[in-house]
Parts: sequence; structure tokens; C-alpha cells
Amino acid sequence: MTTLAQYLESHATKPIASTITTLATASVSISHLLAKGALAGIHGEAGNENIQGEAQKKLDVISNDLLLGALTANPHCAGVASEELDEISPANRDGTLLVTFDPLDGSSNIDINMTVGTIFSVLPYHRTGDTATEADFLQAGSQQVAAGYFIYGTSTMLALTLGKGVAMFSFDPNTQTYILINDNVTISESTAEYAINASNYRYWLAPMKEYIDGLVAGDTGVRNKDYNTRWVAAMIADVHRILIRGGVFMYPFDTKIAGKAGKLRLMYEANPMSFVIEQAGGASTDGVKRIMDIAPTHIHQRIPVVLGAKEEVAFVKALHDKAGILANGDKA
Ligand code: F6P
Repeated sequence: MTTLAQYLESHATKPIASTITTLATASVSISHLLAKGALAGIHGEAGNENIQGEAQKKLDVISNDLLLGALTANPHCAGVASEELDEISPANRDGTLLVTFDPLDGSSNIDINMTVGTIFSVLPYHRTGDTATEADFLQAGSQQVAAGYFIYGTSTMLALTLGKGVAMFSFDPNTQTYILINDNVTISESTAEYAINASNYRYWLAPMKEYIDGLVAGDTGVRNKDYNTRWVAAMIADVHRILIRGGVFMYPFDTKIAGKAGKLRLMYEANPMSFVIEQAGGASTDGVKRIMDIAPTHIHQRIPVVLGAKEEVAFVKALHDKAGILANGDKA
């Protein structure tokens, strides 16, 4: 039996091991709060009072505060960026790492007792000034030195990549430790399962409509086989399912909200999940480019996402190429 601590000792540098340990410790606290649910006063909107007349805090706020406090106290951490905060938080001057996180992905699932999770990405800090700034974070996903997620579902799990494959851990409530359950998670290149919010169909670009039309047509269409849909509406759960049994996940470019290229965030969701998926043998694109090659322009940048089984990701990209789609959704 290998614990997370043992795994990190033999697979990670000291700063990375320390940072992942800090994230794991915070994840255990978040998991405990989630397990208590309504009894911990975490349901409902922030600003409400619970039955005891105590002020309720939304768990995404609590999770954010927990992670931010723990990471900024870690001497290896030079700066932290959270999906929940407008500005980045500079941390320790001598730190060598930057961490971005989505403290509670899928947080609307909390009130209905469904899966949520914490997504994280670790980047190197190339000292440019006295303390870390937003510009230091704007590195392509290919620069990540570690990434993964803690998923709080029927059990709590950690999927972790340090750039050499993906390891999966399961949290043991008895020993309060993460235990390695698979040190080489791989996903199949082909699949018959796809995840997309099809209610956005009318806002998609033509190649995405063409792709989904092909899947819906099943064995009567160009793909010559039947496909099945799954959509949890929490990226963390959809990606976890893909790691476990394959599939393709999409939140593509849409015109629903003018000026937004997609819904998901590059630095908190798309890059870390792309790193995990690629390291498990899958692929990831925004439709035009490999996601991890995109040079970020803004810490909260949004991006279209198609990731998972290689064959499907390549198929989607080929349709975009054929249609001459550019990165901003325009035609060439
Ligand atoms: O971060 C946004 C998010 O909650 C993802 O986790 C999820 O995949 C997506 O939004 C769900 O979006 P929608 O509600 O449009 O289906």
C-alpha cells in the first residue's frame, strides 16, 4: 500500500511534494465539510442564516479561504490565483511555484448532494520582480509541473499528474490518508460516450453542430456506430468519468454570451484538466489549437474545450480545420 506522502517522496521534488501535500490537507477539510452537508451550514446562498441562526457561508467561499490560507503559508508557493478572486495573491518571495485553483468546481451541485471537486495547477515561478504578479502566471499549460483534482463524490479521490502519467488515489477515512489505487491511469483512444450541454446547440459553430449531428445519427450516420450522452454539469465529474471509463467532454465555442469564447476558464479548468487527460493518453483542443499551447492573455480567460478520447478530439479538430475556423470563432 502506497500513501500519497510516499508517492510524492519518490516522484516529486521537495517544493512540489510540499505544495501537493498542502492542497491535499485542505481537500480533507473540504471533504469533511461536504460530508456534514446541511449540518455544517454550507447549503444555500452566502448571507443566509441556518436553523441555529448562524450565518451561512457558501462552501466555495470557505474552500477558497482554506486553500488560499494554506498555500500562501507554504514557503514554496510564490503566488496563488483562484477562480473565485479577481486578483492574484502574491505569497512567499523565495517560493519557486505558482498555484492556480478552482476551489469548488460544480458548486451548484452542493445543494443537491452531488459531486463537486477542487481543480489545481502548479506552474514554475520565474522571478521577474519583488513579488509574483499576474504576468508571472500567464504561462502556457505546457509549462505546468503538476496538476490534478480532488473529487468529492461517493468517495473522495485525487487524480494527479507530475508530467509522467496520471496516478489515482482514494481517501481512506479510517487513516485520513490518500492511498494510491492506480499509478498509470490510461484512457482509450476511441469511445462511444460524449458529454456536452446540448441545449446550447443553436449557439455553436457549424463544425460543432456537424460533429454532434454525426453522433446523434449513430449507426445511421457518418460515424457508423451508436453513441451515448452523459452530462453531470460539473466538469470535474465528467472528466473523472472519462479517466475511469473513457469518453469525450466538450464545452465548445458558443455565441450565447457575446465576447466570451467559451464558458470554462483556461487557467483553472482547461489547462489542469488537459494536462491530466493528455498524460492519461487523451487529447485536448479548443477546436483549433492544442489547449496547452495557448498563450494566456488574462488570468480569468475563458476558452472552448474539447478533451478526452484521441480519435474524437481529432475528429472535432478536423471539422474545424475543414471549415477554416480561427481561434476566435471567425472563419479564415
Ligand atoms: O465551471 C463551470 C461549470 O460548472 C463546469 O464545471 C461544468 O462543466 C459547466 O459549468 C456546466 O455548465 P452548464 O450549466 O452550462 O451545463
